[in-house]
Amino acid sequence: MAVTSRTRVGIVGAGPAGLLLAHLLALHGIESIVVENRSRAYCEARQRAGLLEAGTVELLRAVGLGKRLDAEGMEHGGIYLQFDGERHHLDFRSLTDGRWVTIYAQTEIVKDMIAARLAAGGAIEFSASEVAVSDVTSDRPVLAYTDESGVAHEVTCDVIAGCDGFHGICRPLIPDLSVSERTYPYAWLGILADAAPSTDELIYSRHADGFALYSMRSPEVTRLYLQVPPDEPVENWPDDQIWTQLQKRFAVDGWSVSEGAITDKSVTAMRSFVAAPMRHGRLFIAGDAAHIVPPTGAKGLNLAFSDVIVLAAALRAALVDGSWGLADAYSDTCLDRVWRATHFSWWMTSMLHVAPGQDPFESQLQLSQLRYVTSSRAAAVSLAENYCGYKPLRFDF
Ligand code: FAD
Ligand code: PHB
Repeated sequence: MAVTSRTRVGIVGAGPAGLLLAHLLALHGIESIVVENRSRAYCEARQRAGLLEAGTVELLRAVGLGKRLDAEGMEHGGIYLQFDGERHHLDFRSLTDGRWVTIYAQTEIVKDMIAARLAAGGAIEFSASEVAVSDVTSDRPVLAYTDESGVAHEVTCDVIAGCDGFHGICRPLIPDLSVSERTYPYAWLGILADAAPSTDELIYSRHADGFALYSMRSPEVTRLYLQVPPDEPVENWPDDQIWTQLQKRFAVDGWSVSEGAITDKSVTAMRSFVAAPMRHGRLFIAGDAAHIVPPTGAKGLNLAFSDVIVLAAALRAALVDGSWGLADAYSDTCLDRVWRATHFSWWMTSMLHVAPGQDPFESQLQLSQLRYVTSSRAAAVSLAENYCGYKPLRFDF
């Protein structure tokens, strides 16, 4: 027999979306449970995003999650675009109304949110198995799972939030889902290295051998990415070969990539994916569960958070005030921003990567576009506005 209990919102997934939703709901006085099939240590160590839009930073500050972010985050006022062996700076502050971005690792945001939730007495079940969601078209949907010690649970909820990422169980529960998808003929090999970054801001480099991105995590730790073939085994990339390719793809006179011990190495597929609608009955999906963008635009985590802001406001209106209007608008409200980010991420990806067998026509188009965004103010403004965050996030905490 399963242990039965009751809460208001059942949240599947303790990634950034699920954890932020639990935090925002608690600020609204709404009880929730987060059920996650991985361990806490795994969730806190999974290497992913690093770049936050200013709006995301302002939100995290406003909801009491800004302390370590403010102490350790690295504010950047622009990026470099490199092509044809030359590096060009885009100054976001002068191209926009003073906008900026911040480097602060997703691992650290996840740690901060888990600590805050547990300190507030919030319920997070890590290492759950047999996670299942049912009765989503009733007004009492059920979140079932088996806890780490083998005890089965059934939690009756008012609403279920599917924040369980791209491979989760919630999206398939939405019937008649419309899916728009694009896979790209390349992947990213990402590394973390104990090396002081030799650049002050991120470098996006288009090179005939493929794209490379220079990012960072702290004044001592560098995060670097290389375009590689899709499904490339990580074993194909010994450390010395990685450094050789990085030095080649970032080469400019009198400058080099600083090298150090590689502490993490993984390959990520590149995909665009948008599922609609993002709601079925009392089930709402948010973040990577609903949409994926290739990381070139640095939008995935920021989008996951913008969905959650919309969802938290909608659930407050529904569960506290009894008004379901915002919940009814949830999917359309989110998809407007999702499609803008999908276009921007596809555009950045297409401009900077070299596809296998790419013809000279395509290469000339990319180079022409890169010359345009680094020489026309109007083109640079468009890139900067999209990169720093299209439309301000609206929240009232
Ligand atoms: P996830 O982080 O995938 O979390 C989902 C959670 O649900 C996971 O903890 C998972 O274990 C859990 N789960 C799955 N199935 C179940 C189940 N059946 N039961 C219970 N739990 C389950 N975005 C940016 O904004 N800026 C960047 O700079 C950036 N860089 C990136 C670089 C790389 C290499 C990658 C891979 C991604 C990057 N992203 C970036 C994207 C960003 O990391 C994701 O968009 C973000 O993790 C989405 O958060 P989420 O909570 O929606 O999903
Ligand atoms: C990162 O720091 O991991 C990062 C930054 C910018 C991107 C993608 C990833 O576009």
